[in-house]
Amino acid sequence: MTRAVYPGSFDPMTNGHLDLIRRVAPLFDEIVVAVLNNPDKRPLFTADERVALMAEVLRPWQNVRVDAFSGLLVDYVRTIGADVILRGLRSGADLDAEMPMALMNAHLFPEAVTLFVPTSPAWSFVSSSLVKQVAAGGGPLDDLVPPAVASALVAKHAPPGRA
Ligand code: PNS
Repeated sequence: MTRAVYPGSFDPMTNGHLDLIRRVAPLFDEIVVAVLNNPDKRPLFTADERVALMAEVLRPWQNVRVDAFSGLLVDYVRTIGADVILRGLRSGADLDAEMPMALMNAHLFPEAVTLFVPTSPAWSFVSSSLVKQVAAGGGPLDDLVPPAVASALVAKHAPPGRA
C-alpha cells in the first residue's frame, strides 16, 4: 500500500491545492491531507475549521482523507506509515523554500521521500495568503477557491451578526 501525506497550513485550501490532489490521487492507494495545527501561528481558520472544509471539498475522492497534525511532520509521517511527502511547487522561489525542509525531513526520516509536484499553470499565481487578502477586500473568490471555501471566507469577513 502506498500512502502519501500532503502536509500544509491550508489556511485556506485553494484551487491550487485541490488541483494537485486531483492529479496525484490516482497515483497512490491513499493520500492523507495533513493540516498543520501550529499553536504559535494565528491562522484565519482554526485547524478544526480547515479540516472540516477540506473534508467537505474532498469527499468525492474515496482514497483521500483529511487529518490534523502538530509537531514534527516526520513524526506524523512515521506514525501513520506513509512513504511519500507531497509538496506543490509554483516557482523556483517555492523550490528554494522547500529544499531545506525536504532535506531536513530526509535527514530526520530517510524512509520517506519528498515528491515535488509542479502546479498547473492555471493556479501558479494562487496562494492562501493572497486569497485571504482578496477575501478581506471583498474581491471575487469564485475562481480561486472551491465554493465551500469561498462561502467560509465570506462568512469570516461578514459584519458581526451577519455571519
Ligand atoms: O502550507 P505551508 O505553510 O507551506 O506548510 C508548511 C509545512 C506544514 C509543510 C511545514 O511548516 C511543516 O512541515 N511543519 C511541521 C514542523 C516540522 O516538521 N518542521 C521541520 C521540517 S523542516
